[in-house]
Amino acid sequence: MGSSSNLLKVCLSVLVFVSTANAKSQSGIFNVVNFGAVADGKTDSAKAFLDAWNQACACDGQGRVVIPRGTFLAGPVSFKGPCKAPIVFQLTGKVIAPEEIQSENWITFDYVTGLNISGGGTFDGRGALTWSRTQCYKGGSCGKDPINIRFNFVTDAAIRGISSVDSKFFHMLVYRCKNVKFFSINISAPALSHNTDGIHIGESTGISITRSFIGTGDDCVSLGPGSENITVSNVRCGPGHGISIGSLGRYDDENPLYGIHVKNCTLTGTDNGIRIKTWAVSPTGHSPPGLASDFIFENIVMDNVANPIIIDQEYCPFQYCNKGSPSCVKISNVSFKDIRGTSKSKLAVKLLCSKGFPCQNVELSDINLQYTGTDGPATSMCTNVDAKIFGNVFPSTCV
Ligand SMILES: *[C@@H]1O[C@H](CO)[C@@H](O)[C@H](O)[C@H]1NC(C)=O
Ligand SMILES: *[C@@H]1O[C@H](CO)[C@@H](O)[C@H](O)[C@H]1NC(C)=O
Ligand SMILES: *[C@@H]1O[C@H](CO)[C@@H](O)[C@H](O)[C@H]1NC(C)=O
Ligand SMILES: *[C@@H]1O[C@H](CO)[C@@H](O)[C@H](O)[C@H]1NC(C)=O
Ligand SMILES: *[C@@H]1O[C@H](CO)[C@@H](O)[C@H](O)[C@H]1NC(C)=O
Repeated sequence: MGSSSNLLKVCLSVLVFVSTANAKSQSGIFNVVNFGAVADGKTDSAKAFLDAWNQACACDGQGRVVIPRGTFLAGPVSFKGPCKAPIVFQLTGKVIAPEEIQSENWITFDYVTGLNISGGGTFDGRGALTWSRTQCYKGGSCGKDPINIRFNFVTDAAIRGISSVDSKFFHMLVYRCKNVKFFSINISAPALSHNTDGIHIGESTGISITRSFIGTGDDCVSLGPGSENITVSNVRCGPGHGISIGSLGRYDDENPLYGIHVKNCTLTGTDNGIRIKTWAVSPTGHSPPGLASDFIFENIVMDNVANPIIIDQEYCPFQYCNKGSPSCVKISNVSFKDIRGTSKSKLAVKLLCSKGFPCQNVELSDINLQYTGTDGPATSMCTNVDAKIFGNVFPSTCV
């Protein structure tokens, strides 16, 4: 182990170097190129990235890792904390993944408190080969393909102005994080790329996603169990499967999901709009309990969206469940306000709650969804819902 005085010397020497090169800089700057990274799109620069990170992370003052202009190939790399001080990760260039990765992760940030990622650059997962062979979306073997960028146990972070494209599996996963702000993020993958969810959040609190573009082959944003105080605002979503709460109620001991606010978003051409889904009973007759409460969806524009508003407590996409046997997840305090635009499915509002656990305190106000088809006006469904209706609601629902 290098003693801390040695590490301090390294930081200081970088500091001195930086301050001669740029008199204004007070921070330790760790450019990956100085650690052997090569911007040729061919040389694996993962070790150089990690070496730069480790030194920045060991600095007493703020360390800044810089990935400059150019295209860098990098295999899986895990940037681990805790670091001695807040750290900045400046991604200006483009980082591309190998076509094949034998890991469930590509870029990971672990146990970091105080993380800023910015710089306008891109993580390109080069997922085309993976999408062509996955069976996961059909209920086949799943979960071995790598996530583009994974945040585990990250606290107090701002991720701003970067892009993630063509992930092999999810683009971003936020797991057990606290107070993380995503701002001006671009996420894109083709409509027909399987499992390329934009941002999935699980077991996290205080996460916001703002002013971002997300278009993929799966959910733009999805929320698993155990999260609280999540805000999604000014997001444009599409193509994809919309903004999803769930799936919940598949596993035992899922933690409650509380306090989700989705506002001022536009969904374009997506397969669902706002969706809450909980699993139907398993083939063994099992249906774990769960709690999902305090959701506000407001000021949302639907542009040619299928199922713009949907609560489905009989979610059963594959063979893992008994279709028609609703889940035991209790949904309450859900408000849909000012949701307008066009639906490409005739059934524009579907509220299918559980017979055993009806949805409680569901509010609908100022809804206007017009069906784009020609076989009559938009319709709605309302089953096992305790609903309150305010303002004009079209199609009229729960009356
Ligand atoms: C980190 O990002 C936030 C939000 O973008 C910003 O307010 C803050 O000043 C940044 N911190 C550093 C150390 O760059
Ligand atoms: C995201 O995409 C928008 C629209 O295409 C573009 O204006 C913006 O600069 C992009 N942002 C980043 C961080 O690439
Ligand atoms: C909710 O999360 C935001 C960060 O997205 C944070 O600023 C705010 O303090 C949190 N509020 C509560 C009540 O936890
Ligand atoms: C709503 O989001 C759009 C971008 O999608 C933004 O231009 C506009 O300022 C936002 N409005 C509010 C009230 O935040
Ligand atoms: C739903 O809201 C009511 C009234 O605002 C509140 O008393 C209740 O605790 C909430 N339910 C849950 C499960 O949070």
